Amino acid sequence: MSTDHALPIHPSDLPARLDALEAAVRHRTSLVPRVGIVLGSGLGGLADGLVGTTAIPFAELPGWPAASAPGHAGRLLLGELDGVPVAMLQGRLHAYEGHHPGLVVQPVLLMGRLGAGTIVLTNAAGGLNPSFGAGTLMVIADHINMTGLTPLLGPNADAIGPRFPDQTETWTPALRARLHAAGEAEDVPLEEGVYVGLLGPTYETPAEVRMLRGWGGDAVGMSTVLEAIAARWAGLRAAGVSLVTNPGAGYVGEPLSHEEVLQAGSEAGPRLARVIRRFVRELPAD
Ligand code: HPA
Repeated sequence: MSTDHALPIHPSDLPARLDALEAAVRHRTSLVPRVGIVLGSGLGGLADGLVGTTAIPFAELPGWPAASAPGHAGRLLLGELDGVPVAMLQGRLHAYEGHHPGLVVQPVLLMGRLGAGTIVLTNAAGGLNPSFGAGTLMVIADHINMTGLTPLLGPNADAIGPRFPDQTETWTPALRARLHAAGEAEDVPLEEGVYVGLLGPTYETPAEVRMLRGWGGDAVGMSTVLEAIAARWAGLRAAGVSLVTNPGAGYVGEPLSHEEVLQAGSEAGPRLARVIRRFVRELPAD
């Protein structure tokens, strides 16, 4: 069965889609978020800290499918985190679900449209760097987009961003420094490295893990890069943290399972939540 949410969404389609989405959100709340946070697998707990929350199930947003990946609740949340107005995506859209890249990035662009100038992307990832064991938190310094996809294919929307976006600082250096400062203040060790984004949904083969490590990757996952590209395009500042839930395939000779990923996420998730709360609390106003 074909699903219409896999239909192409070109950059030039996005302004009208964002207009409709913004109107649907504004129908429910006037909160203007300063930060938009995407919660990856097993990291949904950060939402527990939200106060005065408006929760909008994905299915109630126009042109937005319900999230289906296990561990993803599928709601857009708006509320205050320690007094700071934020938007949170509890569950995200993945290209491996059959969603068009233009749809995958719509939530990040919507959070920007609602007022967020800073986007925090979190994810669960496999470790490519052999010193990154399960439970390692890695600030994303840069990425390698190996999905074979881009959200920017097709006619551009100049009103949102340029045709050829520079990516030298897709991962905003000042925000990386702020994440490290928050980690130190919370006594939570943070590594830093390069995130490789693949399409999935298979985990990697051991040969792929060796190759990606050789290419300079430190962690590998199935999300984040398309969203980071869209954020950069739209002039939003992006920061990111990967929660390494397992060593990359082949490092320990055990098969990988989604349950293991969720388990490590639930163990390390609260540590990451503390770092992000402090990061948000101490973020200077624009
Ligand atoms: N590979 C890709 N994605 C992942 C992994 C992995 O090993 N662990 C969690 N997400």
